[in-house]
Amino acid sequence: MSAMNVDEVLGEAEAAVQGASDDAGLEQVRVRYLGRKGEVTALLKGLGRLAPEERPQAGAAINAAKRRLTALIAERKDEIAAAELTAALAEDAVDVTLPGRRSGSGGLHPVTQTLARVEDIFTGAGYDVVAGLEVEDDYHNFEALNIPPYHPARSMHDTFYFGDGTLLRTHTSPAQVHVMERQAPPIRVICPGRVYRRESDLSHTPMFHQIEGLVIDRDISFAHLKGTVTEFTRQFFERDLELRFRPSYFPFTEPSAEVDVQCVHCMGAGCRVCSHTGWLEIMGCGLVHPNALKMSGIDPEAWSGFAFGMGGDRLTMLLHEVNDCRLFFENDLRFLEQFR
Ligand code: FA5
Ligand code: MG
Repeated sequence: MSAMNVDEVLGEAEAAVQGASDDAGLEQVRVRYLGRKGEVTALLKGLGRLAPEERPQAGAAINAAKRRLTALIAERKDEIAAAELTAALAEDAVDVTLPGRRSGSGGLHPVTQTLARVEDIFTGAGYDVVAGLEVEDDYHNFEALNIPPYHPARSMHDTFYFGDGTLLRTHTSPAQVHVMERQAPPIRVICPGRVYRRESDLSHTPMFHQIEGLVIDRDISFAHLKGTVTEFTRQFFERDLELRFRPSYFPFTEPSAEVDVQCVHCMGAGCRVCSHTGWLEIMGCGLVHPNALKMSGIDPEAWSGFAFGMGGDRLTMLLHEVNDCRLFFENDLRFLEQFR
């Protein structure tokens, strides 16, 4: 074996180390040269065939080659690791200049917006906003409103009853009763909230919203009611729609009226939404019946008042010219997003 032979093997091995591009390839190179059956190992084993005087020099050369190759492999291993890390980082890199993904922001439901709008108008006129109860008892939903058990008006209310004498309120009028029970006149309140009836069609949903209004003071007349309702609708719709006070009947008001607003769809010409009448009913109202005042502890000789109960969903339909109030409760975002 000659020194030439060692240099040759070392040269080949160096080229192979540089050519290895990953750990597995590098390991193959190591085994090929430094393994038990490797080429450098074979050179060492071949020392025995040399003349004794040649052995020390040849042995030193092979060992030097072995050390050099070991160092080169270690160096290459570090290079490969560094390259792999760089590649991994490049792959995971976040491009901070890309536009972010926006998360959609919610919005208030159109009916909620209506209730807020109504509250704004009335609080601006000095009214307080009070909450009533959605689960009521028979007394507050009916009896205290001059609707005794035998009264035919009960059948108009398609009530959801619980077994224990409680029920889902069918209107916000029981909130009036609670206010009169705990507060002495003068009273000026509105009570917005959900109410429930067993009915469902184009203009009726089983859950809907009403806004009750109650004013009790000295010498309140129907003129005050009419003026309040007229001014409210003007502010709410921000235009002059025709109003119609239609004589009606509620056991807890006398006289009573229902208020219709000109149909905003057909402007009164008649269409499917207004059942071809040209009008849409938005509220019931009247002067508080003396019996209702008396039952809640207010002297009807000293005080008088008016009350109204308007449909929050109807007002929303009219404001946005939506022709089916069931759309408000189907939770289709394509519909709801239009009101953000
Ligand atoms: C009442 O509920 C009375 N409590 C109103 C009242 C209050 C009268 C104070 C006098 C004094 P009525 O059932 O008509 O009345 O309902 C009032 C309004 O609620 C209607 O004008 C209508 O706009 C709305 N409304 C009634 N039923 C439904 C329904 N199923 N879906 C949507 N809106 C409804
Ligand atoms: Mg009605």
